[in-house]
Amino acid sequence: MSAAREHFGSRLGFILAAAGSAVGIGNLVAFPVAATKSGGGAFLLIYALFVIFICLPVMMAELALGRRTDKDPVGAYRELSGGSKLWQIPGWLALITPFMIAVFYLVVTVWVLGYLVSTLTGNLDALATEAYFGQFINSPTVFAYLVVLMLIINGILALGVKDGIERAAKTLMPMLFVMLIALVIFVLTQENAMLGVQYYLIPDFSKLTPEVLSKAMAQAFFSLSLGMGILITYGSYMKAHQSVPSSAKVVALTDTLVAFTAGLLILPTIFHFNPQIDPTELSDSSAGMIFLFLPKIFLAMQDNIGYFGASAFAAVFFFLVLVAAITSLVSIIEVPVATLRDERGMDRRKAIYTIGAIQIVLAIFCAVSFGMVQWFTEFVTLAGANKSFFDLVEIIFYDTILPLNGLLVCLFVIYRWKKSNFDKELQDGDASFAGSFSQRYVNFSLGTFIPVILALIFINTVALKFFGISFF
Ligand code: PHE
Repeated sequence: MSAAREHFGSRLGFILAAAGSAVGIGNLVAFPVAATKSGGGAFLLIYALFVIFICLPVMMAELALGRRTDKDPVGAYRELSGGSKLWQIPGWLALITPFMIAVFYLVVTVWVLGYLVSTLTGNLDALATEAYFGQFINSPTVFAYLVVLMLIINGILALGVKDGIERAAKTLMPMLFVMLIALVIFVLTQENAMLGVQYYLIPDFSKLTPEVLSKAMAQAFFSLSLGMGILITYGSYMKAHQSVPSSAKVVALTDTLVAFTAGLLILPTIFHFNPQIDPTELSDSSAGMIFLFLPKIFLAMQDNIGYFGASAFAAVFFFLVLVAAITSLVSIIEVPVATLRDERGMDRRKAIYTIGAIQIVLAIFCAVSFGMVQWFTEFVTLAGANKSFFDLVEIIFYDTILPLNGLLVCLFVIYRWKKSNFDKELQDGDASFAGSFSQRYVNFSLGTFIPVILALIFINTVALKFFGISFF
């Protein structure tokens, strides 16, 4: 059978790898835009509350499942349910979900890579034109970039948990922090930057509608890499007796700080470009923001810092997003790799080839769903609207199944694995957790209102996305 389980070499290694997973395109782009459009400081406050009171307990539950069993999600559910057939379902969902989310996330990352290369080759002016994005995503070069990206990610994975995932995180994450802070400092010194900061921070509580709350919740959940089996898998690579509660807190804090800081980059950049802008009219989608809107802004910077300076700024930005996306992709693809190794006894390399082969085909299906192949572009009709294959993957796995997986984790940990066992696991390596307020809160919330909230989000999403009915 397979060799002893791999583990992260240090606590810091685990934290950086988990933060690398959590910090992604969602933090750098989706978060600042959502915050700006949905009440600024009011959104930030609600988001922070969701992270602390709802997401953090779920994160602890996932990590504890992994650390207890030393297994992939399928194995973890099987072992702790005593082999129950029914409880195999969440295990398999925690395998298929990251697999499919990786597919659409790969495609967006391919575009980021393409934009980075175009910027570095002096084509920022072309990127800033309206037609470029449509042409680029429908050109055969995306396939070449897809192959390059798969080689990078699978190359990291092939080196293993310690020498691959952990080392990449230890190199890339500090780089990401430095780049982000450098960009923020630069942009804050520009004209009108403070208008952006103001818009970002001043709270407008009237914007906090039920819809905004549910969006903030979904954003926090996705941003912390919950519901994707990632933290179960990474938990299984934690060193024995490393505190789950305190590690989870550091990861959540890092992720949230990066998201917050990204707002200090995006908003001032936008306001520097156009102080009269009405941010409520910004595009909701991260893709619209990264590929259509921001290039124009970067190019406009040439009035101040010249074409070269503007290109350098844009290149650092795209590189930053690329790094964030790569560390997320590494974590998400590790989930099916771990499952094939644990469940089928495959060696790492064979598992990587198997997953890579299927993923590249599905990623191509997603990549051609923007007009290249009609059948994939108009793949299905949902709630009266045409949806491409790419849209469908996103709707099913990101919008719908993610909260369902979270719900199942809560129910499983509290009612099947049982509170007392879960508690024991959280206390292993963290004696101070026993009897603390956190402990009582985590136990209570995971068995009561957190699953209720996740169930409501799940039901609302199904109604909205598949039947066009909105409850809130
Ligand atoms: N936390 C990531 C983000 O915000 C989400 C993610 C994790 C996506 C892992 C893919 C893989 O973008």
